[in-house]
Amino acid sequence: MLKQLLRTKVISAHADSELKKCLSAFDLALLGIGCAIGTGIFVLTGIAAATQSGPAVVLSFIIAGVASGFAALAYAELAASVGGSGSAYGYSYVAFGEFIAWVMGWILLLEYGVGAAAVANGWAGYFVNTLSNFNVHLPDAVTKAPMMGGLINLPAFAIIWVLTILLVIGVKESARFNNIIVIIKLSTIAIFIALASAHLNTDNWQPFMPFGWFSTLEDGRNIGVLAGASLVFFAYFGFDAVSTAAEEAKNPQRDLPIGLLSSLVFCTIVYIVVSGLLTGIVPYSELNVSSPVAYALSRLGHTWSSTLVATGVLAGLITVLLVLLYGLTRILFSMSRDGLISPIFSKVNPDRKTPTRIIFMCGAIVSLVAGFIPLGQLAETVNIGTLASFVMVCVGVIVLRIRQPNLPRPFKNPWNPLIPVLGIISCGALMSFLPASTWIRFGSWILVGIVFYFAYSMHHSKLNLLHKHKG
Ligand code: ALA
Repeated sequence: MLKQLLRTKVISAHADSELKKCLSAFDLALLGIGCAIGTGIFVLTGIAAATQSGPAVVLSFIIAGVASGFAALAYAELAASVGGSGSAYGYSYVAFGEFIAWVMGWILLLEYGVGAAAVANGWAGYFVNTLSNFNVHLPDAVTKAPMMGGLINLPAFAIIWVLTILLVIGVKESARFNNIIVIIKLSTIAIFIALASAHLNTDNWQPFMPFGWFSTLEDGRNIGVLAGASLVFFAYFGFDAVSTAAEEAKNPQRDLPIGLLSSLVFCTIVYIVVSGLLTGIVPYSELNVSSPVAYALSRLGHTWSSTLVATGVLAGLITVLLVLLYGLTRILFSMSRDGLISPIFSKVNPDRKTPTRIIFMCGAIVSLVAGFIPLGQLAETVNIGTLASFVMVCVGVIVLRIRQPNLPRPFKNPWNPLIPVLGIISCGALMSFLPASTWIRFGSWILVGIVFYFAYSMHHSKLNLLHKHKG
């Protein structure tokens, strides 16, 4: 309890770090949906179906959804009782103390930063394709990263800056923009479902599981429904961003659990329907393309609808980017406020009530990564980070129930500790289905974070300073 009280003190000592409370449960749910439905369903479904799961990609989505569901319940409990803008970072701070919290925050930075840069690359691909449908052809020099034979991926670089400026303008404006685009994205999905239902051919679902459950090929790639689940898990990454908006929620105790759980259930249903239809209208082996949903429609002869859907996907990916950037800035904001990174990043602009400086810094770094590095391979790196943070949140629920049994819990998981234990097992299993190369990248990132902690954060931590003061 002392640790939490100390942390509350540290937080309340910073009156200039207060954020504006303006988001409703509906805004929060749309924030989750806005971030979750994106590259995962629109791009990775095709890749997973063609190379790992076959038509059983539906099962991959269900497996990843169930694991996320356990984690969502854990998030809901902690978001309602602990709160704070730091997501898994903030909860780890209270449950485990500073060092683990730092590692958690470090992992979240990787997830959100690399995730945003990767989605910006996906967006740029759709953008270039859509332009070419209208006979506008951009040269490779400005649409490809140096390693891919160009100079810079300008659309990816530019889209990050557009959204950075939007976030600087203010959170309510951004949430309103997010709500409108989510509606466009859902309409796009509705068009796809309506057209695809009329062309369903169940023969395409045979063989249902051509790659089996799980195996590792000689080149180190993993295949099978479970490997597919660990890839399409990317589609669920983002709904947890709802919890990073806790400090901006009007009524966090009630609205956060509603926002988290309703966005997850909604996304899971959409993924099952869309992936089932996609593999039902086109043979799975043809789906390893950059825009499988648009491809499937144009293959059925719906050329105009295919362009319309591709345009809707473009809008959809913008909301994903918006929420990822939003989450990234809020996690850094929390880490800075706790003294673990430089305090210049936790100043809120008095007029705008947003952490302007940190938003610009994130925009600058992510835009450079998105513009100059091809990040197609990195979805799995994002996934291993997300799964690790889900595991930690589940462990956090169990630890806090033991350490702080009397903490007010407006939302409580039933049958404690069954749900968090199932979350740890299922998310841990999904991590184990990821390839060895992903584990190596992830391990290296954590190592760098640990060195930074002992070199800087430990000596500047506000919690440590308070402890010293008291001692
Ligand atoms: N879940 C998000 C997507 O699929 C990150 O693009």
